[in-house]
Amino acid sequence: MYIFLNNRIVPASEAHVSVYDHGFLYGDGIYETMRAYQGIVFMLRRHLGRLGRSASLIRLRLPEERFIEDAVHETLAANGLSDAYVRITFSRGKGPIGLDPDLCGDPTFVVIAERFREYPAACYERGMKIIFAQTRRNLRDAIDPRIKSLNFLNNILAKIEAKERGADEAVMLNSQGFLTEGTVCNIFFVSHGILCTPSVDAGILDGITRDIVIGLAQKSGMEVKEGMFRPDDLLRSEEVFYTNTTAEVMPVGLAEDVAFEAGEIARMLHTLYREEVEAYMRGQGK
Ligand code: PDD
Repeated sequence: MYIFLNNRIVPASEAHVSVYDHGFLYGDGIYETMRAYQGIVFMLRRHLGRLGRSASLIRLRLPEERFIEDAVHETLAANGLSDAYVRITFSRGKGPIGLDPDLCGDPTFVVIAERFREYPAACYERGMKIIFAQTRRNLRDAIDPRIKSLNFLNNILAKIEAKERGADEAVMLNSQGFLTEGTVCNIFFVSHGILCTPSVDAGILDGITRDIVIGLAQKSGMEVKEGMFRPDDLLRSEEVFYTNTTAEVMPVGLAEDVAFEAGEIARMLHTLYREEVEAYMRGQGK
């Protein structure tokens, strides 16, 4: 396996980062996860746009977008991958101990690409199990969830709760008790036929999949409501699913102790999402 590290491809066994890297010492950095279908990285430009936003929110200066894009493609090519999981990571870089970002030289830049492992079909047929975590989502005024940062302990604490309770995913609430998002995904539910999802104002990462799914639902004539919702709104709904780049549209079969069907709306939106991926690939010459 090969990794892009800083400015070149190296074997994974030689892809080392310093223990003085501020990404390691302080979680000071950002990342993006993407998915490649037949060698085409879906929505690459949008992911790079969000990476740029994360960078600017933490005052990290990135190389030119073109350089990052080329690095992604070089990493896929070096590993001979076509259906792949792709992760871009930027940390503040190496520097002496101390919080001051100006202690660091150039950012550390890593691209990892691995063969994509599909979720088992049973997950889509039966749906995943979610819980509501006790851990609250980072406050927007503390670490804005719109920063896709390396500081992931908030999500990891919620993930630990999910695991301890035998669930696949944990949905976090904000400080006022409104639904926000899962540890690596955005949450949706269907209530009286309306597609509901927490608004960005609740304190979430504005997922790229979420945005596409909202657009597809609207195009197919569904009413979509982005708002402030309570756990009970979700538990009393007809259907629940979550979205992200890797799982696409994933139904929920159990939320706390309430069972749901892996429903029709999730299936329909997943089909439309796949059509969107295919249209994107055709647009890129596939
Ligand atoms: N996670 N919310 C959080 C906290 C996330 O980490 C993610 C993505 C999403 C969904 O965003 P998108 O639809 O753009 O993938 C929402 C990725 C998959 C990850 O952490 O690897």
